[in-house]
Amino acid sequence: MTDHLNVTVIDHPLVQHKLTLMRMEETGTKDFRELLEEISMLMAYEITRDLPLTDIQIKTPVSTCTSKTLDGKKMGLIPILRAGLGMVDGIVKLIPTIKIGHVGMYRDPATLKPIEYYCKLPTDVAERTLIVVDPMLATGGSAAAALSLLKAKGARHIIYLCLVSAPQGIKAINDMHPDIKIYTASVDERLNEHGYIVPGLGDAGDRLFGTL
Ligand code: PRP
Ligand code: URA
Repeated sequence: MTDHLNVTVIDHPLVQHKLTLMRMEETGTKDFRELLEEISMLMAYEITRDLPLTDIQIKTPVSTCTSKTLDGKKMGLIPILRAGLGMVDGIVKLIPTIKIGHVGMYRDPATLKPIEYYCKLPTDVAERTLIVVDPMLATGGSAAAALSLLKAKGARHIIYLCLVSAPQGIKAINDMHPDIKIYTASVDERLNEHGYIVPGLGDAGDRLFGTL
């Protein structure tokens, strides 16, 4: 992993290989969906490497011993609808007990401003470390609004995880939410005149759900 300010680029070869496949125009919905699930699991593996552990006494078939177990840290997974849904299953495979909240945001295509349309969260968000997931961080409007919403609901520990990001989106989160650590598989070049990430991978929600 490489670190710059609040951004960590997950440069694991498997993540980078799968991202290349996802970027390709000819990759269809089935493969795109499977790749997003796999890549999300790999990224979750990387971002959870510092979870606290505690020692417990166990009995193996051979003897007793002291062994490590997760320290019961409460976690929450918050996909930003729609495209964030594609990252849920891979992460749940690694952290099966994680609670899931949903935040619905879409970008107005004319203004590129985020519009909130849904929010349902675990009741105890304040006590949980939340992983907010969305494949695309473009202008940063959707992410910044979702993070503000979660904080207004009491969330205190939040990590933001995306697949592809633009420098503008990273700056927007850094400016509005300097306490939030961002994890991404790539920081791409720029946004185009329609607010799409270049080179990016196109419209993540449409490619995921086949609504192109
Ligand atoms: C996409 C993407 C992000 C947002 C990023 O969602 O999944 O949520 O755009 O753009 P931003 O950083 O400029 O806000 P979209 O609005 O296309 O909605 P969808 O997931 O329902 O397709
Ligand atoms: N949303 C997407 O799905 N893709 C982009 O490139 C930008 C915003």
